[in-house]
This record gives sequence, structure tokens and C-alpha cells, in this order.
Amino acid sequence: MNSMSGATPAPAPDTDFLQDVLAGLGARSKHLYPKYFYDAEGSRLFDRICDLPEYYPTRTELAIMREHAAEMGQAVGPEALLIEPGSGSSVKIRLLLDALQKPAGYVPVEISGEHLQTSAGLLAQEYPGLEVLPVCADFTRPFPVPYGRVSPRRHLVYFPGSTLGNFTPDAAVELLRQFRQVAGANGALLLGVDMQKDVATMEAAYNDSAGVTAAFNRNLLVRMNRELGADFIPERFRHRAVWNAAYGRIEMHLVSEVAQQVRIGGECIDLAAGEVIVTEYSHKFTADDLAALAGEVGFVPQRGWSDHRGWFSVQLWAATDPAG
Ligand code: AVI
Repeated sequence: MNSMSGATPAPAPDTDFLQDVLAGLGARSKHLYPKYFYDAEGSRLFDRICDLPEYYPTRTELAIMREHAAEMGQAVGPEALLIEPGSGSSVKIRLLLDALQKPAGYVPVEISGEHLQTSAGLLAQEYPGLEVLPVCADFTRPFPVPYGRVSPRRHLVYFPGSTLGNFTPDAAVELLRQFRQVAGANGALLLGVDMQKDVATMEAAYNDSAGVTAAFNRNLLVRMNRELGADFIPERFRHRAVWNAAYGRIEMHLVSEVAQQVRIGGECIDLAAGEVIVTEYSHKFTADDLAALAGEVGFVPQRGWSDHRGWFSVQLWAATDPAG
């Protein structure tokens, strides 16, 4: 018998989009939040990005999971409650579930109730005997960890995909502290992160020759036109992705090709020719960055698994304070 408990109630629909857009485009350094990339078309384009020859992170992380999931399962130990903020990584979560010894349950945490119910339902069917306890919530804010039938020996928070890299450094620290709370005493975090490497490889991953990343970036303009009644002309913006060495990140930009004015929500936004809208940061890490970050948020790095080129790393961090 498979088992899926009802999701906690969905939060109110996201009404912040317009406010975030107006604040971001009204700022001195214009920016938009990358979370808004992922409407239906943006999610479809992101899936295509993951298959591009230049975009190495997804396939590299997957290869690490395929090769080392068994060791990860051993290192975590039996009867862990697996908690996945974001819960979009269908293949990776299956590899991990297959490797864990008698998982106490699986808690996918996702803001989209529809997506959550579909993916959680599928997983519950595939893993009869595994208790699936979906939580409909914004994982960047505190959320309740549901009680299941089996009392877990520890909580394991799984955050793959180098999604951490899309947060600003301050927001990343805040997020990891929140994961530390969710992990609790004796808990752990399994984190997938993209590592720093030669600049050409990193830049090529965000400037693919088929133009899929450019379409993904410009789709944000299309989305604002559709959902906010804006009047962007996407062809008047150029996609650019560059390595910022000072901050250790790829930055994605939309560059205004001409001086132009755009209307959104009754406001006019002026853009000079060449003016930049920052749409995404994708931080790449060093081993020292990760050790410092773990310490700052109350974890200690326990194990790490990487590919032979050292391009991507899956890190197991254990909670430092048993009373946490
Ligand atoms: C989701 N995230 C980890 C991707 C990244 O590589 O930062 C998003 C992405 N943006 C452009 N290509 C992929």
C-alpha cells in the first residue's frame, strides 16, 4: 500500500510579482528575481538547458549521484526522514531514496500545490511503503516538518542542483540557517553545489550556441507582458552571461539595446542604451567557501563526493550542536 498524507494548506497565491518587479526596475541597479523565470514556459526551457552540451551541472551532479549514492546512504544511516525543499529533482531523489536504508518518510516542500501533489503522488505510487508527507510552503521561510508513522533517527535535508548558488550570499546564509533548524539535533544537509572552474567552461554553460539560455532569460520579459500587462519588446534586449571574479559568480543580464521606455502597472521605466537588468546570479564555490559557510550556519562538513574533474560537489554536512 502506498501512503501519501494530505498537504498542509496552500499559501495565498503569489501577489508579490508586480511589487518585486517595480522595486527591482526602480532601483539604481536594475534587477529581477530569478525565481520568476519559472512559469510553464520557463520551466520547459530550463529542462532543455539541462540537456544542452554546454550546461554541465545537471549531468555532472547526476553522474555523482549514480556513482556515490550508496555511500551517501551509508553515511546518513538508517531511518532518516528525507526532506527536500524545492522537490523538483525527480531522478536525483529516486537515486537517493534507493540508497537510503529504511527511510522514515519523504517530505517534499514546494510552493506550487499542484506540482507538489502530482510529484508526491507519483513518488508514493513508485515507493509503496514509503510515507510521503508533502508540505505546501515557501521553503525560504520556516515551515513545519510533519510527523509520520515512523519516528525518524535523524532529519536529512536534501538541496541539490546548485540552487544555493542563485541566492545572494546573505540570503544563502539565511536559507542554510533555516535548513539547520529543519535538520534539528543530529540532523544533516546533503547539498549539491557547482564549483569554480575555468572561466570559459562556466561562461559557455550560460551562453549556449542554440540560444536556449537566451530564450530562458528573455522569457521573463514575455511573462511580465502577459501577467503584469507590461509592454517589453523582447527583441530590444540582449542576453548576456559573464563571470564576475570578485564575487565568484556568473551573472545573467538583459541588456537594453536602445534607449527605451517600458510601461508596467501604470508606471514608466526608462532604460538607457546599454543599461543592464541583472536577472540571475549563479555562484560557483571553492572548497574554502563551503567550509566557511558550513561553520557559519551551524554545520560541519562530513563527506564530499565529486566528479573526476572536480566540477561539481555533493556535500554532506552534519549539525554541529546536538541541542540545535
Ligand atoms: C537553477 N539554477 C541552479 C540554474 C543555474 O545554473 O544557476 C539556473 C540557470 N540559469 C541559467 N541556466 C541555468
